Amino acid sequence: MKVFHIVGARPNFMKAAPVIDAIHAFPEAKQSLVHTGQHYDANMSQIFFDQLGMPRPDYNLEVGSGSHARQTAEIMVRFEDVISANTPDLVLVYGDVNSTIATALVASKAGIRVGHVEAGLRSWDRTMPEEINRVLTDQISDYFFTPSEDADENVRREGIGANNIFRVGNVMIDTLVKLLDKAREPKMAGRQERFILVTLHRPSNVDDPATLGQLLATLNRLSKDIQIIFPIHPRTRRRLEEFKLSEVGANVLLTDPFGYLEFLWLQQHAVAVVTDSGGIQEETTYLQIPCLTMRENTERPITAEIGTNILVGKDTVRLGKEIQNVLDGRGKKGTVPALWDGKAGQRIAEILARL
Ligand code: UD1
Repeated sequence: MKVFHIVGARPNFMKAAPVIDAIHAFPEAKQSLVHTGQHYDANMSQIFFDQLGMPRPDYNLEVGSGSHARQTAEIMVRFEDVISANTPDLVLVYGDVNSTIATALVASKAGIRVGHVEAGLRSWDRTMPEEINRVLTDQISDYFFTPSEDADENVRREGIGANNIFRVGNVMIDTLVKLLDKAREPKMAGRQERFILVTLHRPSNVDDPATLGQLLATLNRLSKDIQIIFPIHPRTRRRLEEFKLSEVGANVLLTDPFGYLEFLWLQQHAVAVVTDSGGIQEETTYLQIPCLTMRENTERPITAEIGTNILVGKDTVRLGKEIQNVLDGRGKKGTVPALWDGKAGQRIAEILARL
């Protein structure tokens, strides 16, 4: 069996790494790695390959940035050339980024089977580009590797036969479990013992000057009580420059994005994490660190139901209150969902061997 793995954007790398690793145990399977080049900065891409011990991509489509249509279309055109020259039996796509839907669509029309890793997640919010990517990718996939029961139900409700839904657990947590011991303190001047870790990059939070301005004002206010460490995603950096919002208080450390091992260390040692990321909601639930999510909804409801995640939406007053709760020792406690045990990649490999 010839398997192509598709990665493109930062959150794909830690999801694909454990699956690639696990399939290595089956010598009859040939694997190729396709990097679409959606993310291309060294600290958004190469550093993850190095730290996660991933093989070099066999194909790099080098699409770079662009509008949704342009980026998606460019990935499709270039990926079609790759698979017509070298037909795989199965294409494994990960998560919900533009690279996921673009390559799933090309593969399914070429009659190649598609497996979606992290299938079935739904935020029910079609203003999120990722939601559209999730729904469409699931409609054209053949195999559904899901992290939790809610995901199984979502795809079943959309007409997917139960035989092709495989609840394997959380591949992103596989990588976390494997590398937790290797997490390392980042070198940074001025870091204090106690800090809150912040990441923000969703268009809904960073593309509007008023919203982003209010978020920064809140972080500045909170930094009077506790240090804020805020590694800035390239999209957010561009917006901060565009909106002339780069002035922050002395106790807010704005930094470049970190590698996986450094960011993991920061999550582990943070008093709390404030984010709008999907994956970080899961990682903090696993690490049992309080997470305040600046979104109205989540495609990962289990992190709020049983994990440490609290959805605060755009409500910066609520954010302040929740941070105060954490500082007073009343942060949310949680438990780790079933099958978030470091073995999801292995389960996927075993299922593929059976198929
Ligand atoms: C993408 C994903 C999002 C994911 C996020 C993680 C989609 C629709 N969105 O969002 O789901 O949570 O990745 O990071 O696929 N840029 C650089 N260097 C890079 C990459 C991006 O400077 O290496 C800048 C460019 O200005 C680009 C912007 O960031 O226009 C946005 O990049 P893009 O990949 O379009 O979307 P993200 O916001 O990163």
